[in-house]
Amino acid sequence: MKERIVIVTGTPGTGKTTLAKKLARKHKYEYIDVNEVVRKNKLSEGYDRKRKTKIVDEKRLAKVLENVIKQARKEKRRLIIDSHMSHYISPNLVDLCIVTRCSLKKLASRLKKKGYHKAKIDENMECEIMDIILEEAKHAGHKIKVVET
Ligand SMILES: Nc1ncnc2c1ncn2[C@@H]1O[C@H](COP(=O)(O)OP(=O)(O)OP(=O)(O)O)[C@@H](O)[C@H]1O
Ligand SMILES: [Mg+2]
Repeated sequence: MKERIVIVTGTPGTGKTTLAKKLARKHKYEYIDVNEVVRKNKLSEGYDRKRKTKIVDEKRLAKVLENVIKQARKEKRRLIIDSHMSHYISPNLVDLCIVTRCSLKKLASRLKKKGYHKAKIDENMECEIMDIILEEAKHAGHKIKVVET
């Protein structure tokens, strides 16, 4: 892999973290855990109790990650950024956008295994069925590689 800055996005449960960590180890990237970035920069704006999920302003998060990338580029460090929101980063700063996908049957069983409640499973299944993240990433202008997990 020649790309310096790689982002991994995709519907929750499609295998971003598994793939990103594997690539980081194999190709010597620094792995960026975006949940940690959210915590450290206090980017979480509350909790959606109905959906049992944190509310994060994806535009603010993208700005913070863009600064992380600029610093890494200066220091010639290679990054792999793991988040279903990573495709909000400006494509000018990203060399490759990997979108993870998996079969709906597999996704349902993985999300169940994660302990998600039905509404959240349905929401994520719909996200995958509609190709929402792939379409968003394409629309943003990223160079995309789809990986079936
Ligand atoms: N290539 C693969 N083959 C088999 N199982 C996989 C593969 N990739 C991921 N899984 C399994 O699918 C589940 C979800 O994977 P993972 O946590 O990497 O997804 P994720 O996209 O990072 O999810 P989240 O958005 O919740 O962080 C895990 O149980 C993992 O072991
Ligand atoms: Mg993950």
